Amino acid sequence: MEETKKTLYSGIQPTNNLTIGNYIGTLQSWRNLQENYNCIFAAANMHAITVRQNPAELRQKTLALIALFLACGVDPQKSIVYVQSHVPAHAELCWALNTFTYVGEMERMTQFKDKSARHAENINMGLMDYPVLMAADILLYQTEIVPVGLDQRQHLEIARDIAQRFNNAYSPTFTVPQGLYPKVGAKICDLLDPAKKMSKSAENPNGSVFLSDDRDTVIRKLKRAVTDSENSVRYDPENKAGVSNLLTIYSAFGGKSIEEAEREFDGKGYGDFKLAVGEVVADRLAPLQAEQQRLLADKDYLNSVMLDGAQRAEKIARKTLSKVYKKIGFYQV
Ligand code: TYM
Repeated sequence: MEETKKTLYSGIQPTNNLTIGNYIGTLQSWRNLQENYNCIFAAANMHAITVRQNPAELRQKTLALIALFLACGVDPQKSIVYVQSHVPAHAELCWALNTFTYVGEMERMTQFKDKSARHAENINMGLMDYPVLMAADILLYQTEIVPVGLDQRQHLEIARDIAQRFNNAYSPTFTVPQGLYPKVGAKICDLLDPAKKMSKSAENPNGSVFLSDDRDTVIRKLKRAVTDSENSVRYDPENKAGVSNLLTIYSAFGGKSIEEAEREFDGKGYGDFKLAVGEVVADRLAPLQAEQQRLLADKDYLNSVMLDGAQRAEKIARKTLSKVYKKIGFYQV
């Protein structure tokens, strides 16, 4: 890792099927960010188990997620790519940070409240502790920049609070991280209910475009996306949430600004517009899927990437953890 570059960290849970929301919200930017930052990218499988998972599926999805990172242009020579559970320091720092986090703060987290409602039968301690583990992920690497979608903003704020709290209690220990949210597409909405974010775990799969969807499925889902009765392609998130969401998707995938996209569809109907959005998405997903499959056929290579990533991550993480242990008074030999 280059000394002069700032550290950037992001993670994705290897759960369900990733959506174009995950892609636009963060993954898409990773390729270019590697040029300017020391990047660390994790498959957050420890976060994943806060909701019950099928073990075989979780294993498979972890491998597939690492392959997807690489398919999206992450270069494991430049960046650290690893699996969260391969670096025990995450759990260790999480424990220490738990003692700097208040139960009330965790109870107020929007995602905790949402997930508790959806998984009322399993409101486990891990679900509540989720943001502290995320803080540990970020703080272990002295991260300055965290590229994520808007749904993670609250978690990032708490990571900043915990870092500052610890620094104030002892002396500067952690870098206080900053979120980096995409200018366009920080919150991609559900195609059928644009008031909600597009989610991996949505009840109706037709509201989400999955990165694994084939061309026909992508085009069909976009054709059915909710719009309005005005038949005018205009960006107005307040009054035209559906159309604005589609413009955002078109802009993110087509590499055009929202204004350019509006001009392109000036005078055209929603039918043409939705087809064009479907095509631009499908055109991008096809090569990604092919590259992911190619990589998945070489498990040895993927294992070597993860192993190397975990070793490099571990080295950085241990340094921070050892500092923390010293400050809090853990006897070290
Ligand atoms: P996860 O797996 O839910 O989502 C991965 C990333 O996708 C973004 N995202 C979205 N962006 C725009 N529109 C959407 N509809 C949308 N849905 C999801 C998320 O903001 C996220 O960036 N807790 C994290 C994983 C994590 C992490 C970390 C992230 C664990 N440790 C440390 C950053 C730093 C999560 O569950 O993401």
